[in-house]
Amino acid sequence: MLTRILLFIIFSFISLQLHADDFHPTNPKKIKWKFQGTMGSFDREAVQRGYKVYKEVCAACHSMNKIAFRNLKEVGFSEELVKSIASSYQITDGPNDIGEMFERPGALSDYFVPPFVNKQAAMASNNGAFPPDLSLIIKARHDGANYVYSLLSGYESNKADENGLYSNPYFSIGKLSMAPPLSDGLVEYDEGRQSTVENMAYDVVNFLQWAAEPEMEVRHRLGLKVTGFLVVLTVFFLLANRRVWSRLSN
Ligand code: HEC
Repeated sequence: MLTRILLFIIFSFISLQLHADDFHPTNPKKIKWKFQGTMGSFDREAVQRGYKVYKEVCAACHSMNKIAFRNLKEVGFSEELVKSIASSYQITDGPNDIGEMFERPGALSDYFVPPFVNKQAAMASNNGAFPPDLSLIIKARHDGANYVYSLLSGYESNKADENGLYSNPYFSIGKLSMAPPLSDGLVEYDEGRQSTVENMAYDVVNFLQWAAEPEMEVRHRLGLKVTGFLVVLTVFFLLANRRVWSRLSN
């Protein structure tokens, strides 16, 4: 009997030890996004500011392969501005007539230029971790918008541990190779909005949400039209129905 009790205590202790290492990520903060809900639409200004944050900060490590420069017109940037943004990048094109690749300024039809030539180069510069493409990241993560916002604004410290990892309670395993990318005042905003970590995180998530689902507004508008059509149709049928049966009941 005593050995049994002893064994029980030893096993419970071992299993407690095993579970002590289990990390449970903190649930993301709940932010009120303008794009939420059936009537939600994009906050164009936030999306534009978010592009600035992406371009000046995140694009140093993260590609956005699915977005072309011309797409930026959809968020309210003028054609002129988008053209000048595109042409500020050098695109590798080719091969030309003699089989060589060449560089030319970007055009509207080009896609965002990735920061690294390949995955290995990206990992070599990032402590062995791969910075994922951000085109669809909001859809690729559960509760994506709240999650990315919380991740960006939820670091516990600016210091890495001995393995080069940074503590963040919102990340699945509590530590990641991305150093806190945002710090107060990092990006220059127009007057009237401070570039706090929270504001920049809010803006860049608006941009990433648009990138992941640019057709969202069209979908919402279509949903509204279809619902309206069905309501009208229902009323029409009810009236027609009454009319038809009224002759019989008299
Ligand atoms: C200096 C390079 C660097 C910069 C700048 C950077 N990141 Fe990262 N990011 C990484 C790396 C590396 C990872 C992979 C981390 C890991 O898996 O440990 C990562 C991972 C992520 C993830 C994925 C987390 C997950 O759930 O897998 C998101 C989202 C993200 N970054 C968003 C951003 C945003 C938004 C910005 C700009 C505000 C940004 N990053 C700036 C290097 C960077």
